[in-house]
Amino acid sequence: MNYRHGYHAGNFADVLKHVALCELLRLLTAKDKKLFVLDTHAGAGGYDLGGDLARRTGESEGGIRRLAAAPRAGMPAAVARYLAAVAAYDRKFGSAAEGPRRYPGSPRLVRAALRPGDRFVACELHPAEALALKREFAGDRAVEVRQTDGYQALKALMPPVERRGLVLIDPPFEAADEFDRLLRALRQAVQRFATGCYALWFPIKDVAAASFAEVLAGFGPLRLTLDLGGHEAGRLSACCLAVVNPPWRFEETMREALPWIAARLGPGVSAAVEGGRAA
Ligand SMILES: C[S@@+](CC[C@H](N)C(=O)[O-])C[C@H]1O[C@@H](n2cnc3c(N)ncnc32)[C@H](O)[C@@H]1O
Repeated sequence: MNYRHGYHAGNFADVLKHVALCELLRLLTAKDKKLFVLDTHAGAGGYDLGGDLARRTGESEGGIRRLAAAPRAGMPAAVARYLAAVAAYDRKFGSAAEGPRRYPGSPRLVRAALRPGDRFVACELHPAEALALKREFAGDRAVEVRQTDGYQALKALMPPVERRGLVLIDPPFEAADEFDRLLRALRQAVQRFATGCYALWFPIKDVAAASFAEVLAGFGPLRLTLDLGGHEAGRLSACCLAVVNPPWRFEETMREALPWIAARLGPGVSAAVEGGRAA
């Protein structure tokens, strides 16, 4: 396990995933019923965009930093809400830098949206990342951090007692069998909890992604894609967030937000919103 999300925090893939995550959370917490959230691959929780790892790749320059610098005129509400969530996290550290210095990972975005009574379990297997995640939420009783295999946790925790749930599955795709594991885990989870909302991130790099997407189509997901264009071997240039059972109006907000984001991220960047059947 060599993957460290700190190298990639705030890049175009995080922008796609986190804009969508903020909207899913907003829509799912609009109902006056308790929600369970599971982040199977949670990462460290928060990232220093000025730190060694992030500076080595500079990936946030083509992601959150570019978006945060975009003029607000005509900005879709979902993007404005995401930028507000990033800025709120960054402000906690008193950052005075141009653009965000501290970037919230998925567990921080979930935490910001939770209401009293909602439940949140964040899983992370890498010992150093899990320790960082535990430190990030030290003393916060609303967040249960587990150093464990997220797929095992998914199996154990479905169905949630709340009967309303959002699951984010965001693996590092280091292992050759990651797509297979993901599909197996999703299949089992949907069998146990068919009405849950499942958001799965995956890189679009090779034929493995194409055959994965084909099988995934059987779950009827809404597919959100962001493509930087100009494919180079070994470089991530396109990715997808597939959402099974998206809440009502999610698709509408993504259709508004994603083309706008693509246009701001640079020439040649494209976005697509495809498939889906509303829950
Ligand atoms: C892409 S990163 C997560 C980023 C995070 N979801 C976010 O959006 O901020 C993937 C994380 O999964 C962790 N990981 C790898 N295999 C895992 C497993 N089987 N269970 C839980 N975590 C795992 C890695 O250590 C890494 O921190």
